[in-house]
Amino acid sequence: MATTTCKPTSYMCFLLLLLLLHFNLGKSQLEVNYYSSRCPRAEDIIKEQVTELYKKHGNTAVSWLRNLFHDCMVKSCDASLLLETVEEVVSEQASSRSFGMRNFKYVKSIKDAVEKECPMTVSCADIIALSARDGIVLLGGPTIEMKTGRRDSQQSYATEVESSIPNHNDSMSLVLSRFQQIGVDLEATVALLGAHSVGRVHCTNIVQRLYPQVDETLEPEHAQYLKRRCPDPNPNPKDVQYSRNDLVTPMIVDNNYYKNILKHKGLLTVDEELATDPRTSPYVKKMADDNDYFNQQFSRAILLLSQNNPLTGDQGEIRKDCRYINRNAT
Ligand code: HEM
Ligand SMILES: *[C@@H]1O[C@H](CO)[C@@H](O)[C@H](O)[C@H]1NC(C)=O
Repeated sequence: MATTTCKPTSYMCFLLLLLLLHFNLGKSQLEVNYYSSRCPRAEDIIKEQVTELYKKHGNTAVSWLRNLFHDCMVKSCDASLLLETVEEVVSEQASSRSFGMRNFKYVKSIKDAVEKECPMTVSCADIIALSARDGIVLLGGPTIEMKTGRRDSQQSYATEVESSIPNHNDSMSLVLSRFQQIGVDLEATVALLGAHSVGRVHCTNIVQRLYPQVDETLEPEHAQYLKRRCPDPNPNPKDVQYSRNDLVTPMIVDNNYYKNILKHKGLLTVDEELATDPRTSPYVKKMADDNDYFNQQFSRAILLLSQNNPLTGDQGEIRKDCRYINRNAT
């Protein structure tokens, strides 16, 4: 008995305590205002840049929201998404799941402005998180208290993109399990899909629901509208043919998405499934009825997504240029 107790006076016990303390210190966590002492103006500079970009190209804000999803869903919120193909790195952006993603070049404006004030201090992973937060506000969505302190990966996970991010026509069971795996619960998953109240979908992701036969779950007039938007059954993915997600408030993050999908006017198969699957439909109805409830769940869900498995402490690095790991940067 006595041999298993840790006597504070014993030398071995002291070493053990030191060891435990060391691991605890090494395991830093995200916190609100992580940069307040390290780079006090960091969050203001990011907000200024996101606002300026939004004024010039409104859809940048839409991209920042999608970036958070595609970065955090693959392994970790670690800016692996932003790495470009070079030497041993294959970009996650080359995956078919990243189809339609845009505005990556403007991330550089944000990072450069931050670097000017505080070199090598603010991570690209935090820029993804904070630009998403600020973009959501510009798009009329809720104000979210985003934590910071993420660090950047030193590799890309291109081979894991397709097994992490669901496809437009995957089953709701698969979608739910993918989100569950990264700590996003059922209700939060329903809320996150509300991001599809902004932006667009290219015809390549819609035509399977129109040709050769119209998907019978589509509302008939909406199907006719989509056929006019996408007249070619085999569109060239390079053609800029698309439909907007929300025809009424296309640039506002709101609960209109849920109203649309309940009327079977969604664009993607997963949007339609969300409205009809017995597990998700009660939440879809609640969100369609109550925008405040949607905002509250959307905020909670964005936080869960943004906190997936971050690199912290001395893990990873702070990239200088978000497109390259430091050892590949010129
Ligand atoms: C089951 C999960 C999801 C699937 C299968 C999915 C799939 C897609 C697809 C196929 C597009 C259209 C791409 C194109 O044709 O250009 C799209 C657009 C978009 N998605 Fe998702 N998505 C999902 C979840 C999410 C989540 C969780 C978010 C953010 C929180 C999000 C944000 C967006 C945004 C903002 C756009 C519009 C992008 C633009 O206009 O540039 N999506 N999504
Ligand atoms: C889903 O769509 C892709 C094309 O984007 C297609 O290759 C695949 O067969 C479809 N899967 C199902 C289950 O319909």
